[in-house]
Amino acid sequence: MSVTTPSSQSPADVLVVGAGLIGLATAWRAARAGLSVTVVAESFGGPCASTVAAGMLTPATEASFGEEELMRLCVRSRDLFPGFVAELEQDGGSPAGYRAEGTLQVAFDADDMARLGHLGDLRTRLGLGTERLTGRECRRLEPMLAPSVRGGYLAAGDHSVDPRALLQALRAAAERCGAVGVRDRVRRLVVDGDGRARGVALDSGGEIAAGQVVLAAGVDTPSIAGIPEGVVPPLRPVKGQLLRLRTPEGEPPPVTRTVRGLVKGSPVYLVPRETGEIVLGATQEEQGFDTRLTAGGLWEVLRDAHELVPGVSELEVAETCVGLRPGSPDNEPLLGPTAVPGLQLAAGHFRHGVLLAPVTGDAMARALTTGALPDYARRFAATRSTGGPGAAGADGGPTEGGEQ
Ligand code: GLY
Repeated sequence: MSVTTPSSQSPADVLVVGAGLIGLATAWRAARAGLSVTVVAESFGGPCASTVAAGMLTPATEASFGEEELMRLCVRSRDLFPGFVAELEQDGGSPAGYRAEGTLQVAFDADDMARLGHLGDLRTRLGLGTERLTGRECRRLEPMLAPSVRGGYLAAGDHSVDPRALLQALRAAAERCGAVGVRDRVRRLVVDGDGRARGVALDSGGEIAAGQVVLAAGVDTPSIAGIPEGVVPPLRPVKGQLLRLRTPEGEPPPVTRTVRGLVKGSPVYLVPRETGEIVLGATQEEQGFDTRLTAGGLWEVLRDAHELVPGVSELEVAETCVGLRPGSPDNEPLLGPTAVPGLQLAAGHFRHGVLLAPVTGDAMARALTTGALPDYARRFAATRSTGGPGAAGADGGPTEGGEQ
């Protein structure tokens, strides 16, 4: 996306604050729906949760108890991905790094296998097909798995994408659909005397006016100055530390599809890229806005990855990285209109920002063009805990007929 200065801007229909996957998916889908869109961010493509993420599209192997409704949204989004990527690559002309090899979930010991088996029942309830495999069958699919791996599940429908390529594709597609980027820091949200959001004031001194403002700045969203109190729930940063390993030129990668594993109860994943890079992740640490890489965090990820695929220890470390997942109070995303007219949210995607990008883009484009979220997204209304338009409370809030 080409980046311009605020002074050259006439008011847009929509101003999106944030240029991560959620902000750009919203911008692209809104622009595709015919709205004029401006995106403002301090950085386009710089470090953020989206550029750190491994890019797993794996609801079947990520399903956990108590998250059934969220998982249904994740499955919807996963199923949108092939079409989303096809349109994106057509609009932007840039590859999105989508891979459809399926995901293998493996267990290190008998207790881990029992835990995975327990989750198998949940997956069946959610209609997520997985195939139970013996250790030998797992190794037939991924020969570099450790001999000790007890068994696992193959989720043929769980895929992956390269979030950095996806971001680039979204920037290109949004631009081709007319969206404009502004590189600046948002100083505050501008709310007029009638209590309506009118745009943002920038650090550089200018202002950008827009008919509607979407806050999609990840874990920084609630700290944007000028948001009336109680309108945006707090988001907690959940730190993830990851490593990127490089397979030597001409050698086969140690895994050919995403491998997720449980090692003595500790989850780990290995996600291969077309380039031969393998992403290992990730810690899940709740300790505020701490972005330090720690020896212990990286060791934990390497230790567990090595237990499952010993060959990873031979690979060169290409990069270590850390990101902050934006966790909402109930771990579910916050979407659509807020109690402030003209202000919408697309935030709080926690562990699922990459996976939920397509469904978020669609739901937000609908909310921006009609004023209401589609029915499938109403549970995730930004107002569910704060009240106001769109709240999915007893009276239901605004809705659209006919769609599930
Ligand atoms: N969705 C993977 C992670 O948050 O680590």
